[in-house]
Amino acid sequence: MSTTSSSRGAEEDLPPFDREHVLKHTQSPNPSWTYGQKLSETDKGKAWLAGEKEGWTVFDPEKEGSRQTYLLLISGVIPRPIAFVSSISETGVYNLAPFSWFNTVSSNPPTIVIGCTNLPTRIHDTALNIIATKQFTVNLISETFIENANFTAVDTPIDHSEWPASGLTMADSVYVKPPRVRESVFSLECELSHQVDLSPAGSSRATSTVLFGLVKRIHVRNDVLNEKGVVNPALYRPVARLGDISYTTLGDAFRLPRLAWADVGSDVVEAEEAIRI
Ligand SMILES: Cc1cc2nc3c(=O)[nH]c(=O)nc-3n(C[C@H](O)[C@H](O)[C@H](O)COP(=O)(O)O)c2cc1C
Repeated sequence: MSTTSSSRGAEEDLPPFDREHVLKHTQSPNPSWTYGQKLSETDKGKAWLAGEKEGWTVFDPEKEGSRQTYLLLISGVIPRPIAFVSSISETGVYNLAPFSWFNTVSSNPPTIVIGCTNLPTRIHDTALNIIATKQFTVNLISETFIENANFTAVDTPIDHSEWPASGLTMADSVYVKPPRVRESVFSLECELSHQVDLSPAGSSRATSTVLFGLVKRIHVRNDVLNEKGVVNPALYRPVARLGDISYTTLGDAFRLPRLAWADVGSDVVEAEEAIRI
């Protein structure tokens, strides 16, 4: 194959990817935090607040324009999980593309949402296919095949499948027709449940098509499942999206319990009374 790494967009002046990083659990950033404690009471917190010296900028999306608003949102709302979506056109073209306006929004009913930005003259093939066939799969991306997945964002003509050049493999789904990505250790088979078209104020043109998917099947590769039957992130090694063309992987993890008023309420009230004094 004659493709050079620069033609694939690799940035060769950066250090190599750290494949050896092992996710470990650490303490939370401020394990001695207690009810009512302000940031100004710790050195790290004070240093954080020192940034306020620079003041704030308030952006009004309507004045800023869609491009700058897009750049701000994708750089600020991070990290975003990526839906690697497999769909099939009405004419039988197998499509694959990544979408990071994506998340799960409900487990009952199990529902995911994907935001497709519409092009001036047409909507993305993925949106077109899902609206036409009502079926798709969402495959989560791990480090080992991010280059393959990133390739599929290429703007192929509508009759040209991204699958062959991606180097990825189709695996049969059990409920929907679009295949799963075999290399993905976590895939969802989905049925379109809702479509919401978004238009800017004063315009009737839908600039964004938001698709809700009802999750009909969840495929998990057994080697990433832990003894509790959930996914072990250290083995899964998922990739997420940052702003611009940056991606990220997981750093370390920490655990913080969710508190119940029944357990902590009296301590909270006591602390509040002490603060008032
Ligand atoms: C990591 C990544 C995330 C992306 N997220 C989105 C997204 O959330 N919404 C969108 O409209 N396009 C997104 N894109 C761009 C689409 O993947 C790209 O336009 C692709 O060609 C769409 O394919 P399709 O026309 O075959 O559906 C993203 C691209 C990359 C590389």
